[in-house]
Amino acid sequence: MKTTIIDGQKISQEIKLEVANETKSFQDSFLVTPGLAVILVGDDPASSIYVKNKEKAAIASGMAGQTINLPSTVSEKDLLQIIENLNLSKEIHGILVQLPLPTHISEEKIVQKIDPIKDVDGLHPFNSGLLSAGTPRFIPATPAGIRELLLRNDSNPDGKHVAILGRSNIVGRPLANLLSMKSIGGNATVSLCHSRTTNLKKITINADIVIAAIGIPNFVTEDMVKENVVVIDVGINRVKSSMTKRGYRLVGDVEFESVKLKSKAITPVPGGVGPMTIAMLLRNTLQAAKLQCG
Ligand code: GUN
Repeated sequence: MKTTIIDGQKISQEIKLEVANETKSFQDSFLVTPGLAVILVGDDPASSIYVKNKEKAAIASGMAGQTINLPSTVSEKDLLQIIENLNLSKEIHGILVQLPLPTHISEEKIVQKIDPIKDVDGLHPFNSGLLSAGTPRFIPATPAGIRELLLRNDSNPDGKHVAILGRSNIVGRPLANLLSMKSIGGNATVSLCHSRTTNLKKITINADIVIAAIGIPNFVTEDMVKENVVVIDVGINRVKSSMTKRGYRLVGDVEFESVKLKSKAITPVPGGVGPMTIAMLLRNTLQAAKLQCG
């Protein structure tokens, strides 16, 4: 059996090109440049790279990208004020606060402060509520990217049993809502698994599609999946390595080499889900600008 290695890099480029073209015609019609503000609190090296990539991608698509770097000691009050200013800004249509935040800041309060019409992350309860009601506005970028990868790789989840590993607000929970929606790219039967799931293997081995988003390197092994499975690996874990200059290498939540042999299709890490999240964020930002310009 030939395994398809799903090329997230290539698909994300296609989407970014679509978004860039749409951005151009939106600008020509409305004389407005979609603006994305990304807030980074602290200097976590991985988060810094993600945030830089988001800003770069926004600019490359013809949008205005602005990164706001704040020290890890910033107070919750000051951060709330910065969000308030962005909520009122005419130039900014999308706001994203990179998570996680330092423990002295309530993520819940921060996410709820963002004006829902500018919440391109789709994490505000108003937007997650719309998604769970089956009428989404902004779909969180990683779940949206995963649905796109499945659809563009002949792996429509319609009628399939999908096992999702991880119930985070950013990935697992919205993804379960998205893939079970009554619409294109939905109609799946979803098992949302987590750290308290008993007999996990019993669930994953019966799944047509396994999506791992738990942040544990190489957690999904070949004995946990059935032949011809489609595997989506959301994990980006840094593990120490003397083989690379940086002293670490990136691995996913899936033991790629062995699971690949049983899979019909599988995403690599890096180059799978990661690049898709940026493309979907840009799509949400353009949509936000359109909504705000009536
Ligand atoms: N940290 C990791 N993924 C994400 C994401 O999709 N959105 C935000 N805001 N922070 C993240």
